[in-house]
Amino acid sequence: MKLDTKDLVSMGDLSAREIRDVLAFGIQLKNKRRMKRLLGGKTLGMIFSKSSTRTRVSFEVGMYELGGHAIFLSQNDIQLGRGETIEDTARVLSRYVDGIMIRTFAHADAVSLAKHAAVPVINGLTDDEHPCQILADLMTIFEAKGTLDVKIAFAGDGNNVAASLAIACQTLGIHLTIASPKGYEVVKAVRDRTPSIRYVNDPREAVRGADVVYTDVWTSMGQEQEQRRRRAALKKYQINEVLTNLCANNFMFLHCLPAHRGEEVTDAIIDGPHSRVFDQAENRLHAQKAVMVGLMRR
Ligand code: CP
Ligand code: NVA
Repeated sequence: MKLDTKDLVSMGDLSAREIRDVLAFGIQLKNKRRMKRLLGGKTLGMIFSKSSTRTRVSFEVGMYELGGHAIFLSQNDIQLGRGETIEDTARVLSRYVDGIMIRTFAHADAVSLAKHAAVPVINGLTDDEHPCQILADLMTIFEAKGTLDVKIAFAGDGNNVAASLAIACQTLGIHLTIASPKGYEVVKAVRDRTPSIRYVNDPREAVRGADVVYTDVWTSMGQEQEQRRRRAALKKYQINEVLTNLCANNFMFLHCLPAHRGEEVTDAIIDGPHSRVFDQAENRLHAQKAVMVGLMRR
């Protein structure tokens, strides 16, 4: 499997065919763990300016299972944290590694890294997007439902996860409604490029008849000082038994994790029979292995 794009910085970097190829190959890799040394002798550099459990471990294990190696580069420990530019970091790392994953704040930094790196760059989350997450989520939906012809509802903060979900659903023609309160909507630039996505304010309108209900934290990394205000603004968007009564009978609940239980979702839902959140977390590994092979196996 080979992807046409050099980098995966935005969900919009992948065509519908490329997304479908990643999902199909990810499922193949999942069924045959440690299949082949498809990236034998290759190295992935992983720059982290924010915390991570799933992204770090899934990329590192993924590279190992593909016969390669991953290096964890905390922003605080590399010269980037002391003011070396993103451009110079890109040029230097490109002399050593075969791919770079970056988790950071400003999306523009990931764009700039990709522009100046000779090797593929993968977005492991920025303030604007989280494309690898959405590939794992689509894989989870496909595995559970056998199709991507589903009705998805996202209720909550119109954040990075919601934005990448909107772009993916636009690309694939998936029915998606996003409900967020005023002031917490998906940014205009993404709304403008996703004309087939429904954006509403009422969470009930979004979840009515939905096959998949998705939410994420109300306070993302870097927004901690806004937590009280966000809790108040998003209170009505909690995924609980009252709201999910409006969903299709066999709906599935998704959350990218980490969850703030009791805020955006109740224990009864996240631990209940409809929840697929740990399959989702597992699928980060398989979907990203497919992405890395698609980008780094030249
Ligand atoms: N979902 C996700 O990206 O998790 P981490 O922040 O733990 O990497
Ligand atoms: N929206 C969350 C996702 C964490 C995986 C954040 O950016 O913190």
